[in-house]
Amino acid sequence: MARLNISPVMVILLLGSVAITILPGLAVPASSPAPAQQHLLECANKLGDCGKQVYFAVFVNGTTVTKDCCTRLLSVGKQCHHDLIVYATQRPTFKGNVSEILDKSEQVWNGCIHSTPASLFH
Ligand SMILES: *[C@@H]1O[C@H](CO)[C@@H](O)[C@H](O)[C@H]1NC(C)=O
Ligand SMILES: *[C@@H]1O[C@H](CO)[C@@H](O)[C@H](O)[C@H]1NC(C)=O
Repeated sequence: MARLNISPVMVILLLGSVAITILPGLAVPASSPAPAQQHLLECANKLGDCGKQVYFAVFVNGTTVTKDCCTRLLSVGKQCHHDLIVYATQRPTFKGNVSEILDKSEQVWNGCIHSTPASLFH
């Protein structure tokens, strides 16, 4: 079952401390500047502590995003949210079903729009 293969450890590695954990993955030696990676880092930094909560809600069933973090997520914007999720699903450690995660990501976003705990959208 795909849901059992989505390791919370992966999420923690990715988001436990967003600035610290996303950085090594992004800090691939590159000969040219990487605007896409810079964009992701800015997104992650803007989410701050809420990043962990938001991405737990997406990758782990049964967790919710608080109203405060919903507010933060909405202010950071859907593009950032989407891009970070897509980035996470592209990590070699990701073992889940990408289309399910993208659906879930959409549900979490919409749940925040309605200020409703994302877990109600399962
Ligand atoms: C969450 O639960 C739904 C419904 O049981 C399931 O379809 C989905 O795969 C689960 N998602 C994750 C990431 O575990
Ligand atoms: C991923 O999930 C979607 C929707 O639940 C399903 O249609 C698809 O077959 C799944 N893909 C894999 C590789 O399991």
